[in-house]
Amino acid sequence: MSKPNEIAVHRRWDWEYPIMARAEGIYLWDTHGRRYIDGSGGSSVVTSLGHGVREIPEAMARQAEDYSFYPAHIFTNPKLLELADLIADLAPGTLRNKCKIWMTVTGSEATDDAARLARQYWVVKGKPQKHIIISRWQAFHGDNIFAISMSGLTGRRRMFTPMFRDMPKIPSAFCYRCHFEKAYPQCDLLCARVLEDAICQAGPENVAAFIAEPVVGSALAACPAPVGYFQVIREICDKYEVLFIADEVMTALGRTGRMWGIEHWDVTPDIIAMSKSLTSGHYPVAAVVARDDLWEALHAANAHFRAGHTLNASVIGMAAAIETIRYIQKHDLVEMARTIGAYFLQRLQSLLSYDTIGDVRGKGMMVGFEFVADKKTKAPFTPEREISRLFSELTFERGLITYPCTGTVRGVAGDTILMAPPLITTKPQVDEIVDILHDSMRAFEHQILG
Ligand SMILES: Cc1ncc(COP(=O)(O)O)c(C=O)c1O
Repeated sequence: MSKPNEIAVHRRWDWEYPIMARAEGIYLWDTHGRRYIDGSGGSSVVTSLGHGVREIPEAMARQAEDYSFYPAHIFTNPKLLELADLIADLAPGTLRNKCKIWMTVTGSEATDDAARLARQYWVVKGKPQKHIIISRWQAFHGDNIFAISMSGLTGRRRMFTPMFRDMPKIPSAFCYRCHFEKAYPQCDLLCARVLEDAICQAGPENVAAFIAEPVVGSALAACPAPVGYFQVIREICDKYEVLFIADEVMTALGRTGRMWGIEHWDVTPDIIAMSKSLTSGHYPVAAVVARDDLWEALHAANAHFRAGHTLNASVIGMAAAIETIRYIQKHDLVEMARTIGAYFLQRLQSLLSYDTIGDVRGKGMMVGFEFVADKKTKAPFTPEREISRLFSELTFERGLITYPCTGTVRGVAGDTILMAPPLITTKPQVDEIVDILHDSMRAFEHQILG
């Protein structure tokens, strides 16, 4: 076996990376012929279609036969036009066919560009003080320097804080560990109402937007906001002329059992950032979907959008995204995520029988669970024990890939596992996954509790 750590730099130094050989459906194989279930959607909630779907590479290859790259400062391409129409037709609520779409490359660029659009919109509207983007703790909006300033994921941001201007944060909408020590619904959604304080504290004249994930992914392992949360957020944003950006990088295109995560709250954001499911991992593509009139304000001022990367709206990526969306529609994968996801969540409840599992949560095919050292007090394990990583290694040994996350408690402690298998996963395959989780839990508790 080659030594993958020697020249190519991987995410960790302390892990001997197996080499992936092939993949089909929800399974992938390494070069030793070992089979794994893709339980977390690639790395984190990407591979909606599963693996080996011929239609996508075929569409990319057909496009490449015409051309693979184009001078985007002079030309457009037909695939970009078609994809924009397709997304506009699907957009949620009042955005449907009343939006424009900007294509970019990664999820971090989509959230960064969403913030840029909010900022530029207010500048052209004659409110140039509006520059603050309020976000939440225990949230992830990407890893470039501005996106990380909006992100409330302590472990990934703390070292870089001297390099950016920090953005204000409100507590997460996380009922299991409610910041206000209240219970839903008596809490009266304090976690949403506190946005009003944050806006007033910063001065509404300075606040451009609020950004949030409908279902928090890697920071809270599939934690949906409570019922009514985004309705309150919407009202507060409207009251203070603050744009609402939904970060749907993980949730867009069916993952949560609705086409868009925010549809569970029946609220329309002003701007949406999307990426992962857009090509199901076949090509780096991301998009910013925003209200028509935001773009029209820039248009009217002849203010070109101040953003962009060399590979934005790559024609090969556009071909992949069109075919991916068609595949999701043709195979009714949103409905599949809804029904199989509900079954998955129900089966996962059985994990609560273990002493070290405190919470199970999720929406559609995006589910997760949280470890606790003490179930009554919800005390987490100390971060040094790297509990979620240890558990993930146990599932890996048993042929299941899971995504370990940390930071639910003050950003530092609190171990969780995020699961997001492809949307094509069947009930028997869910059973197979849950069986491996139980087997891993038994080994885990044996190791941890003795
Ligand atoms: C909600 C959310 N926003 C943004 C990003 C950043 O996306 P990318 O890793 O493609 O830059 C992620 C990545 O996991 C995410 O989960």
